[in-house]
Amino acid sequence: MVIRNINLETVCGITSKLPENKKPEIAFAGKSNVGKSSLINALMNRKSYARTSATPGKTQTINFYNINEEVYLVDLPGYGYAKVSEEEKKQWGKLIERYLHEAKQLMAVFLLIDIRHEPSANDKMMYQWIVEQGFAPIIIATKLDKLKKSQVMKHIRMVKEGLSLIPGTKVIPFSSVTKQGREEIWELIETEYLG
Ligand code: GTP
Ligand code: MG
Repeated sequence: MVIRNINLETVCGITSKLPENKKPEIAFAGKSNVGKSSLINALMNRKSYARTSATPGKTQTINFYNINEEVYLVDLPGYGYAKVSEEEKKQWGKLIERYLHEAKQLMAVFLLIDIRHEPSANDKMMYQWIVEQGFAPIIIATKLDKLKKSQVMKHIRMVKEGLSLIPGTKVIPFSSVTKQGREEIWELIETEYLG
């Protein structure tokens, strides 16, 4: 994908009306700090257009990035962030649920998992939930640069087994530091969900 222009077009909080976009939307889910906003920056060829932070809980809204007036990349709030009250967690959960349920243009949901760690109970729940909403989630195993090459296969297997992935589910290793995986992700979006 040649990035000609990008625009953070819509930001939705817990009480916001969701936009009725006319172009396909591709959403990115995953626990807080897993690297959703960093991935979106990498896809957009920007360093920090999407705000990122070493402290979890940075993105607390659903952010719609319009790419070339062609497709929206949708940054979802992270789950599993301990410092947030139960009430707030519930509200975010409802917002994400409402989005997955109502978004007419939502074509694909990518679920991001930190390649270093076993998927958590929340990751498993999110995976199941996406499946129940009728999507075949694609897994992105993030922070690939933190592993030695010799460990990668083992960790991919750990992610697959940990989530009990439906056979055939794609797992794409990715690093926002080296950008490894970026082309594969765009390629997949373009061939499967656009045009
Ligand atoms: P929330 O908005 O809190 O849900 O987090 P997020 O999933 O958007 O994570 P974000 O992109 O803000 O990244 C969190 C931290 O991880 C930041 O310090 C990033 O620099 C770092 N990070 C993200 N991706 C990678 C990666 O591929 N490799 C390495 N080494 N660090 C990464
Ligand atoms: Mg974020």
